Amino acid sequence: MRRSFFMLMLAVAMLPAEAQKGYVPSKENVAYRQQFQDNKLGVFIHWGIYSMLAEGEWAMLQKKIPYEEYSKLAGGFYPSKFNAEEWVAALKAGGAKYICITSRHHDGFSMFSTKSSDYNIMDATPFKRDVLKELADACHKRGMKLHFYYSLLDWGRPDYNPKGGGLAAKWTGQGQPDYNTYHQFMLSQLKELLSNYGEIGAIWFDGAWDKGKAFDWKFNELYTLIHSLQPGCLIINNHHWAALEGEDAQAFERDLPGQNTAGFSHDVQVSQLPLETCETMNTSWGYKITDNNYKSEKTLIQYLVKAAGNNANLLLNVGPRPDGTLPEIAVQCYGAMGKWLQQYGETIYGTRGGLVGQHKWGVTTQKANRLFVHILDLQDKALFLPLTGKKIRSAKVFIDKKPVKFVQQQEGILLLLEKQPNETDYVVELTF
Ligand code: GLC
Repeated sequence: MRRSFFMLMLAVAMLPAEAQKGYVPSKENVAYRQQFQDNKLGVFIHWGIYSMLAEGEWAMLQKKIPYEEYSKLAGGFYPSKFNAEEWVAALKAGGAKYICITSRHHDGFSMFSTKSSDYNIMDATPFKRDVLKELADACHKRGMKLHFYYSLLDWGRPDYNPKGGGLAAKWTGQGQPDYNTYHQFMLSQLKELLSNYGEIGAIWFDGAWDKGKAFDWKFNELYTLIHSLQPGCLIINNHHWAALEGEDAQAFERDLPGQNTAGFSHDVQVSQLPLETCETMNTSWGYKITDNNYKSEKTLIQYLVKAAGNNANLLLNVGPRPDGTLPEIAVQCYGAMGKWLQQYGETIYGTRGGLVGQHKWGVTTQKANRLFVHILDLQDKALFLPLTGKKIRSAKVFIDKKPVKFVQQQEGILLLLEKQPNETDYVVELTF
């Protein structure tokens, strides 16, 4: 008994409780949380010097490339076709309301102008253009929100000294670790990111799983700095744990909230915060030339719908090529989503997860007194909704407003459809 109490206390002491203690989100923050939830679809962009290897963003580690040699890639990075305006226009046409781009990934290369290290796009490449600044300007101009991905781990800096065991320890992490100098480096980079690029919707941290929960990441200082520089900026941390104090939204990697098919969410309770699921279009985050394993347009649209039904946003990834272009197939998939959203956007944007949770047949979303029943896969012409004690005023097919017959009972309502649906998403709208 005493021993288990001791173990419990030890576990509590080991939690990174220092994440912003006593945090109360500002008015701006609460407002952006709402808008963020309304926005529903974002585009994740993984782009860096790893794109040149065309093997995904983990290429350095997976291919056992020594850091010294890997870093030389920067000297040849020249994305001659990069055009931020074109990116934003294409992604906007895909129905996305925000973009989250890698400002610095695990390889430690900064894709922005930074005084905190020379290993960045301005000083280490012949391109010498701040692509994040160009993207920020295009986003601000076109009403697209901008979020920055920021890696907490660094495969190159000796002061971080990644504790990855195996590969990470072998190829990187030489020298003496000193988390204090590394932490200072992150603080100064975050200050740059939040001072030089206009309004930033969120900082999306990743990589805390590398040293784990027991490590003192000093989140308090990181979170406090972000919130003091831009009170409306959301902090999202893809640490794969339950949300910590000071965080404004919760991330789920390759899984809908509450599910754990990818194995990253076993330890995660779904919080009351806004939720966001990130997923790839093919199977890679960073550009991988051989990965043609793109999900179908139907699968992608249905995933967005399922995310919305689970009260979450979808952050859908594209990995641009080293020349700065977006793979055509990815643009085509976003285009299909955008086209679908032009018709069905009202049942997705601005909604929250509906009264009826996810079933095999689909999900529901809700806006005030309207419940949208998204039928994705139904074997029958009738559908029972367990809306106990709810009185329904009307039921109609969303797209053509044709009335749908229904039977109302204390236990719920039975929809009697005209046919067995076979659309990507057959939406029936109920009003209370
Ligand atoms: C994982 C990967 C990382 C990727 C991220 C996106 O954390 O390590 O490469 O950026 O997922 O969610």
